[in-house]
Amino acid sequence: MPKIEIDGKPYEVAEGRTLLQAIDDLGLLMNGVEIPHYCWHPKLSIDGSCRLCQVEIEGVPKLQIACNTPVRDGMVIHTATERVATARQGVMELLLLNHPLDCPICDQAGECKLQDYAYEYGVPESRTQEPRRPAKKAVDLGPTIVLDQERCILCRRCVRFCREVPETGELGVFARGDESVLDVFPGRQLDNPYSMNVADLCPVGALTTRDFRFRIRVWFLDDVESVCAGCATGCNVLASRASNRVYRFVPRRNDAVNQTWICDEGRLSYKRVAEGRLDVATLRRRPASFDDAIGHAGLALREARAAGGRIVGVASPLASNEDLYVLRELLAALGADPGVFAVPRGEGDDILLSEERAPNAAGARALGFAESAEPVGRAAVALVLGHELAPAALAGVEQVIVLDSHASDVSAGAAVALPARWHLEMSGTFTNGARRVQRFLPVVEPRFEAYARGEILWRLGGAVGLDGWGGEYDVRAVSKRLSEQVPAFRGVSLATVGDQGRELG
Ligand code: FES
Repeated sequence: MPKIEIDGKPYEVAEGRTLLQAIDDLGLLMNGVEIPHYCWHPKLSIDGSCRLCQVEIEGVPKLQIACNTPVRDGMVIHTATERVATARQGVMELLLLNHPLDCPICDQAGECKLQDYAYEYGVPESRTQEPRRPAKKAVDLGPTIVLDQERCILCRRCVRFCREVPETGELGVFARGDESVLDVFPGRQLDNPYSMNVADLCPVGALTTRDFRFRIRVWFLDDVESVCAGCATGCNVLASRASNRVYRFVPRRNDAVNQTWICDEGRLSYKRVAEGRLDVATLRRRPASFDDAIGHAGLALREARAAGGRIVGVASPLASNEDLYVLRELLAALGADPGVFAVPRGEGDDILLSEERAPNAAGARALGFAESAEPVGRAAVALVLGHELAPAALAGVEQVIVLDSHASDVSAGAAVALPARWHLEMSGTFTNGARRVQRFLPVVEPRFEAYARGEILWRLGGAVGLDGWGGEYDVRAVSKRLSEQVPAFRGVSLATVGDQGRELG
């Protein structure tokens, strides 16, 4: 492993990496080692065009760009000398020559690398008096992205992304010199299933998403770590919230799961927190109080148990590992068979989108639920955690008790329907298709009475009169019990998975 020195500190880095890659591998880039950069991105090919990442290397007469300089054993690098500072100032001055001074009305303000680097590394005043170059403003590049050509600094991250990740190549830089502009190729639209990633990649306010632009100033948002529940990949996201409302998902880097990307469908799935919710408990299809609905459900289960009636459990791949574990325990305590679950499916791709359109089918399997979309047969009571199984499959059940976050035909026809929290409203874990357990944290509070499915089942056990059930529900304690009692989950719990997740044993 080459040994290098940066600003007087020794590091061991991997062979065959460039300087920026090596520092990024160590987790130190802009996090201990300050090398500003625009065109370089850890998951894209190297462009070397912005020249902002110049550093001084002992024994090399000219400054070198860190993004495209391979590390060599014994290299001594300086990132904060006067020469480096002057070079950075020069680059920033050049980039700002034509950039409009519209920060107060730019939607990127607050998370703009041009603002940040101008503040950190630029010169405080402008030496130009010439008018700035005019270019296209607010152009729809396709259904999801709006371009402000004047703000573009031509880093070409978006161009490389479209070529290298979705491989659709809609974007290019056209013309030469100071006439150069970013645009779509003639007759094309920026329209691919990953198109909105270009807005994350854009370091300035040139590319913004139609969905988020001008909805809120970003400094009013705070971000909570979560995962996308759209499919079995479980892309890591930051959910941005303000005033108990979710405004967007942006991808969170996890090299073992989604790199730094997310598909557009998953990105927009944050809207499900406010759409189509099951927002009131019902008893025989009429609104009821939560307590009455739980009381009735408990009575139905108690009577079925006393009469030797069959009780079936239907799990859901949208429920968390903790919810499913409580269901498994409740079914065992009621003397019911281990439950079944069905998985919604769609078309997958070779990038991120999985065919399984649910976040936790692997968790349901690991917890012993059998995958089946077949009718459950005749039963006195069915405890159903979702709506993946068609109502016809429950036709032989006398009383269906549904716990769900979203309204469906199943909840509409159920004897008891109980509103459950969506994953953005609770803590828990999902197991993705690669058997990686990933945690999510509460982002918002539901605007109606709703609880995690595990908590509802816990209370239901109390209403049935089962020993030790009911009372205070603690998801962390449930997660700990799950990790102690289910061999596949040994050592894997809410407390241990961290922000990057952990694979099942
Ligand atoms: Fe190195 Fe742009 S980041 S030249």
